[in-house]
Formats: sequence, C-alpha cells, structure tokens
Amino acid sequence: MKYALVSDIHANLPAFEAVLHDIEGRGDVDAIYHLGDLVGYAPWPNETVALIEERGIVGVSGNYDSTVATNYKHCGCKYEDPRQEELSHMSYEWTRANSSEATKRFLRRLPFHIDLRPLGGHLPGRSLILVHGTPTLNTVYWTEDRSDAFCTKMANAAGAREGDVIAFGHTHLPYQRTVEGIQLVNTGSVGRPKDGDWRAGYALVDMGEKTSMEFVRVEYDVQKAAAAVRASNLPSDFADFLEAGGKVVARG
Ligand SMILES: [Fe+2]
Repeated sequence: MKYALVSDIHANLPAFEAVLHDIEGRGDVDAIYHLGDLVGYAPWPNETVALIEERGIVGVSGNYDSTVATNYKHCGCKYEDPRQEELSHMSYEWTRANSSEATKRFLRRLPFHIDLRPLGGHLPGRSLILVHGTPTLNTVYWTEDRSDAFCTKMANAAGAREGDVIAFGHTHLPYQRTVEGIQLVNTGSVGRPKDGDWRAGYALVDMGEKTSMEFVRVEYDVQKAAAAVRASNLPSDFADFLEAGGKVVARG
C-alpha cells in the first residue's frame, strides 16, 4: 500500500489542488489521508473542506479544526512574541467567522487518531498511525529535536510497536526519524510551509514488503494564493509568509 499523506493545508486551495494533481499523476498511490489543520490563515476554508469531502479523503483533526469546530477561545497555536500572538488571533477569528456551519459540522466529525493496517487487520503486522500533533494532544509540537524518551512515550501512547509508522504534521517542518524501531514522519505542510521553501509539501509512505518514505514538494500558483489573502481582510503578513515559505509568523 502506498499512501499520500497531506497535512496542514490551512485553507490554501491552490496549493491543495496542485498537490492532488501531483498525487493523481503518479498513478501508483493507493490512498490519500489528511493529517488535519484544513483551515486557518488563508481565505478558502469552506472550499478546502468541500474538496476534502468531495474526494472522500479521510483524516484526523488538527488543532485548528477542533478549535474552530467547538468555538474554543483560541486555536491552540504557539506564538513567539506579541505581534505573532495578535496575528494568530486575527487568523483564528477570521476563520471562525468565515467557516460555514457545514464546514464546522464536518470538522466536528473528524477523528483524533487513525490506525491503518496495510496488511489487513486479520493479520499481525505493521500499522500506520495518523495524528496531527502527537498521540496525546493535537496542540503539542513533535519537533525533530525532541528526546528519544519523548518519542518513546508518544509511541507508547499511540500503541505503536516496532515496525510501525507514526505520521503527523503540525510543525510545518518535514522530517523523518526512527526511535526503537518505530518510524516517525512529519509530513510537512501543504498550504503553509515554514522551512523557507514556498512549494506545497506532502509525504509518500509505501508500506510494501519494506517501508519507505519520500518527501515531495510541488510548485503551485503562490501568487494567486497571496493575492487572495491580500484581497481578503486577513492580515497581509500571511501573504508574505506564503511567498517566503514561512519564517515570518508564529507556529500554528
Ligand atoms: Fe498547522
């Protein structure tokens, strides 16, 4: 089974459409799953959710999804200074105000954790476990510099065993790491990368006889996305952020 994992689309419809086109063009991807944060920061929350629903793409609930869906007081994002905090609140309030009731209803139905069995559940074998942030909370950042002890604790919380893969997003920074035989993969972000590369990012995980992974970057019309942010009443900082591939605004 070859999976395409798309995370942190963040209402960036042109980026998501380009990624879907890339995945479909490969011809060898068996299934697409999303890892949450469908909305926030860009002006297409309803269109993005509608496309996810139309394509029947199953996935987990990101912090942005679960907080918008429940009208929580903030998005659960981390910010590094008062300006970033202000921007974060502006994005969240805009998204809450502009997400339709149908979008919120869809977001409320998202599961927190998905456990896939590529060999079938009738046999023992490797699992592919999907969460947004960590297996305990979707707001916690599982960064590459986390200790082995932290990774093992999270793997245990997910019920992972040697040979399994745990896939997540949330930090918008792709990486791969193996701890005690469990493979960890942060898929990066489709719609709001933060590694200085503006192209949309996603991951391919092939769980055939052996497990292999690949990080993919896809060019899309970033100018269209940036122009739409500037034409909306979202802060123009978010347009600058898309064009720069991040490194401007807070994590979320
Ligand atoms: Fe995110």
